[in-house]
Amino acid sequence: MTDPFIRTADKPVVFIDSGVGGLHYLRWVRDNAPDESLVYIADTLNFPYGEKRASHVQTIVVSLVDQVVKSFDPKLIVVACNTASVVALGALRNLFSVPFVGVVPAVKPAATLSKSKLICVLGSSRTVEDAYTANLIAYFASECRVISVSGREIIDFVETRFPGSSEDERELAVRNTLSAIHEEGVDTLVLACTHFLYLEEEFRKVCGAAVTVIDSREGVGRQVCKFLRRDNSPAAGQGRGTCFQTGGAAMNGHYTLFAEMFDLDYLGVFP
Ligand code: DGL
Repeated sequence: MTDPFIRTADKPVVFIDSGVGGLHYLRWVRDNAPDESLVYIADTLNFPYGEKRASHVQTIVVSLVDQVVKSFDPKLIVVACNTASVVALGALRNLFSVPFVGVVPAVKPAATLSKSKLICVLGSSRTVEDAYTANLIAYFASECRVISVSGREIIDFVETRFPGSSEDERELAVRNTLSAIHEEGVDTLVLACTHFLYLEEEFRKVCGAAVTVIDSREGVGRQVCKFLRRDNSPAAGQGRGTCFQTGGAAMNGHYTLFAEMFDLDYLGVFP
């Protein structure tokens, strides 16, 4: 029987996240590797990952990847989610032979960039609490003081209210969470959740010119492109991509808007 999800002549690169965050990573890859077939899966049924226990997120992500591998036979899976990457990347690499690229907080570049040696890492609750992030900080930013902040309200805002929101609402969503930064005199802010990229401009505006705002997009994108060059397998995507979601309350029409925003074909529920 032919699997309905295998619809390209080549093996796709599949991006996964709990929601819409990873679409910015897909865009970076498409801009730089336009021939690849790209598939995006938003695990909306299990959103938000960041408010769940690490073991629960790991179970969810392993099961999602299992379905993805069976359905698409991908050449590469990009775990376009900091939360999923910090808790599950090790397990995924042990369990599956498909290659993975993960997205983890940009602590290393932040430590290099920061002059004041005061850094803020803003992520989901799970990401900022996780031992993986603590180890990243201990290893790459031992000379810095790092303030970790959970941006759970911003994640929820982006996933459920971003389309159609006003500039004021977007700015307020950022302002409410970032009040701590100004008090502490931080000079570098790490956007350690892929959802935050929708509000990049607002982050820069609210933080002001004295704070450098960084994320992991370019590093991850370059890693993906390096893999694709080495792999050199057929790519017949012609700049197109498809987008699925796994269900839940987010089946409300927003995803057709997000798909349009990123020039993707929205194909409904996966699997
Ligand atoms: N986009 C995800 C990340 O980068 C988190 C969103 C969630 O909590 O589900 O961490």
